[in-house]
Amino acid sequence: MRKKIVAGNWKMNLDYQDGVSLFSEVVNMAKDEIVGDQQVVVCSPFIHLHSIAQLAKTASHVAVGAQNIHQAESGAYTGEISASQIKSIGVEYVILGHSERRAYFGETNALLSEKVDAALKHGLLPIFCIGETKEERESGKFFDVIKTQLEEAVFHLSKEEFAQVILAYEPVWAIGTGLTASPEQAQEVHAFIRATVAAQYDQSVADETSILYGGSCNPKNAGELFAQADIDGGLIGGASLKSRDFLDIVKVFN
Ligand code: G3H
Repeated sequence: MRKKIVAGNWKMNLDYQDGVSLFSEVVNMAKDEIVGDQQVVVCSPFIHLHSIAQLAKTASHVAVGAQNIHQAESGAYTGEISASQIKSIGVEYVILGHSERRAYFGETNALLSEKVDAALKHGLLPIFCIGETKEERESGKFFDVIKTQLEEAVFHLSKEEFAQVILAYEPVWAIGTGLTASPEQAQEVHAFIRATVAAQYDQSVADETSILYGGSCNPKNAGELFAQADIDGGLIGGASLKSRDFLDIVKVFN
């Protein structure tokens, strides 16, 4: 169902104690400050997940997500973590297809389609990231890149399965750079993504899909970005590491 969502991605930041205390702050501030029906998701490193998922049980607006899973059920994959393991500790969401995983860990659309299947099989909601590099934007082929990412990684899903997926448009050139896409640039791509989903499934599926924007989103620019017709929230990196900044972004939907 189309929801307003603000998801934080802590990436590889925060030792255990610092992460748990940041999450506690977020939960307390959310209780006091959220007056809308927006969903907050905090995607932490694996080490925090069990503890913060326990804390999230007391918080109606705040849920927990992982930043990755392995595609296999279980087995000899040293150092990896499966969807069912993540699910077993109360985690509800998982980021898949982040451009950092694609660039630094060689994750392809084909591999990501398997990870999406594994997540859905175990009841995890994928926050599936798509987006173009600077070169792809400048060469004008960004719509093709985004369409291919969708076709190869998520369009094999049935309508019912796809309904569980949250999409996140993250232009790679805007991630961690301070170069936010303008509200018009972001809206143009979000509208394209929604139209592409409608062409693959149907208009009602497209209308029910939450599409988040990510890339140097902060308390100053979130209002204008989230006011766009096809932007349903954000995937927040740097600004999610400060409780005040993160909650100010969340409160755009109050
Ligand atoms: O997953 C989050 C995105 O990569 C955005 O990161 O807000 O630090 O640019 P950022």
